[in-house]
Amino acid sequence: METLGSVDSLRARVTGWRRAGERIAFVPTMGNLHEGHLQLVREARKLAPRVVVSVFVNPLQFGPGEDLDSYPRTLDADRAALEANGVDLLFTPSVETMYPRGVERSTVVEVPEVSEGLCGEFRPGHFAGVATVVARLFNLVQPDLALFGEKDYQQLAVIRRMVGDLGWPIGIHGVATVREPDGLAMSSRNQYLTAEERCVAPALYRVLREVADAVRGGHGDYRALERQAMEALVAAGFNPEYVEIRHADSLRPVESGERNCVVLGAARLGVARLIDNVRV
Ligand code: PAF
Repeated sequence: METLGSVDSLRARVTGWRRAGERIAFVPTMGNLHEGHLQLVREARKLAPRVVVSVFVNPLQFGPGEDLDSYPRTLDADRAALEANGVDLLFTPSVETMYPRGVERSTVVEVPEVSEGLCGEFRPGHFAGVATVVARLFNLVQPDLALFGEKDYQQLAVIRRMVGDLGWPIGIHGVATVREPDGLAMSSRNQYLTAEERCVAPALYRVLREVADAVRGGHGDYRALERQAMEALVAAGFNPEYVEIRHADSLRPVESGERNCVVLGAARLGVARLIDNVRV
């Protein structure tokens, strides 16, 4: 596996592959890789002969007071894990490489509607930061397809919408959330949990599953289900931000009776902010 940090060296390598007719699968990450990321890499391996992974902690998607400085950076371990999983190229750009005119002065990609509400309400500017960095990475890597985890359901919807709206010929693949044996969705932010909080954390998935079961069972009042779920999370020790039943594709709010839904939730537990979702 080759590790490259500059735009020119990356371009030279992917241009060679494209000229040889080799398809490229791309997995963008912020590093601190866990089984969830490695599952994306393994799926990528099945779909294309060339796999590129990026590790870049993107300042543009962190708000003031968020964990940009403390976000875990574990490049040596990440490199070893990617090498062991057959990645061809690891791209590790600097902030200056990604934002040559400065983070504050960069052109920003805004994706309306799907970026609004849910995490978009609690993390203003977050999805513009994600869309911007993914757009730039797509332009540099020129992949045929890219893979993202379904744990970040709204992020996946934002990227699908961006690629559709801009007409880029890139297939976007969502990959099922990888969970700990007790159901907790794997996330780099799980390591912020204390031992006590780690015991409580799987309750987020359990509560969302209960809402999804009630929707499946024909429960007639979605707003009541959302309220009860928020109360259940408070009772378990969380400080919940939202639990909402949304349309599974557009993420628009739905009225009771709609069945093509996803139940999404975000909640703080100590300093950790956890998100999860369950398809109905
Ligand atoms: O999901 C992530 O790790 C990040 O949001 C992404 C897609 C790599 C963009 O920085």
